[in-house]
Amino acid sequence: MAEKKSSAIPEFYKKTPAERLQAVKDFASLSDEEAKALRDWGALGEATARGMIENTVGTTALPLGFATNFLVNGKDYLIPMALEEPSVVAAASNAAKLCRPSGGFKCDSDESVMIGQMQFVRAANSGASVLAAVKKVNAARTKLCAMANECDATLCSFGGGCRDLRARALETPRGEMLVVEIFVDVRDAMGANCVNSMCERLAPAIAEVTGVEARLRIVSNLATRRLSRAKAVWKARDLEESFKDSESRESRLTGKQIVERVLDAWAFAAADAHRACTHNKGIMNGVDAALVACGQDWRAMEAGCHAYAATVVPGKYSPLTRFEATDASDLVGFIELPTQVGVVGGATRTHSVARACLKVLGVKSSREFGEVLAAVGLAQNFAALRALATEGIQRGHMELHARNIAILAGAKGDEVELVASKLVESRCVKVDKARELLERIRG
Ligand code: MEV
Repeated sequence: MAEKKSSAIPEFYKKTPAERLQAVKDFASLSDEEAKALRDWGALGEATARGMIENTVGTTALPLGFATNFLVNGKDYLIPMALEEPSVVAAASNAAKLCRPSGGFKCDSDESVMIGQMQFVRAANSGASVLAAVKKVNAARTKLCAMANECDATLCSFGGGCRDLRARALETPRGEMLVVEIFVDVRDAMGANCVNSMCERLAPAIAEVTGVEARLRIVSNLATRRLSRAKAVWKARDLEESFKDSESRESRLTGKQIVERVLDAWAFAAADAHRACTHNKGIMNGVDAALVACGQDWRAMEAGCHAYAATVVPGKYSPLTRFEATDASDLVGFIELPTQVGVVGGATRTHSVARACLKVLGVKSSREFGEVLAAVGLAQNFAALRALATEGIQRGHMELHARNIAILAGAKGDEVELVASKLVESRCVKVDKARELLERIRG
């Protein structure tokens, strides 16, 4: 029986990266080659990587590509995308190309306001009343906002800062609590750090005047005051043309039929949470890829977007997009999503690739960044619905996948394309099939 190894490796954090790697190698019985793959410091370099997270042994890479054709509010953008999934970059580029004739994406956004939350509970044996606390805190709003602003002079000098504060009583499974929320204009930062600092600063003062006990002090990732919106029109005529060079059955569809099919696909998501989840996942394919490339906290955006999807229609998880037909029977798409992103601070300063990606993207403010992300999300969703409602997504997926399978089967040089195209033709993209084809080509 294989020896059971413990993951409680003593003082792992004190070891050098090489020692840590050795411990990981021993733990998982890695080969020298596998261990070497983990040790790569990549473009980031050892010092930067070690400064970013704990217990580092190396970095990991993702393919970085650029989606083309994005015209947003009359300005052209190349969208950096880092992800492992084939077809996403091509799909976004194609969707953006198809709405260019009608002017691309029209976007707008809210101010960059993030919400910070403070939780207070009644201390044991305390006579403090939550309702009285709510009144006291709300009455001291101006003073408390000023106090919050004292902890971020830089943000205030850029015109940002704590704009407002609201206290409310909250009924919870563990009784009534006091919740105090601050609304902070974080300007061009993602903002979690400054909001958290403000919450930590205010909570003891609130506890003192109200007699309740401070507990959690943290940003909310449901950034409902920081929404971005995009709209785009895909002309029925252009949709029809987009299938004309293929030999598939779809080349016989009229533009109007394609529009109808996309509307039906959207309606499925609007009516069913299982479908809406996958629908929104497709949106996040593009959004997350751009966030990763630009060194953003993509988990915050993911959490925010899915939570937002559950609040647009109360009690119902819904699609983040909406599609309609115009009077001219063209397709018009809309998206609205919370965009907690920054063009200053965090990894945008330390990560050389993220810095370069942001430069290529060319966004000057977090609001502009959010608007571009809304356009990317809408493009990605349109592309997925168009493909799913017509030819299906496997064909597009399979072309890149087939090349990987050909390489795995041992194809070299020109053989890769040859084996890949035969795999797609055969509709059986498997390593065994690739080996068989390779033998035939070589034989
Ligand atoms: C795959 O990564 C994304 C899709 O499933 C999105 C969707 O179904 O709308 C194709």
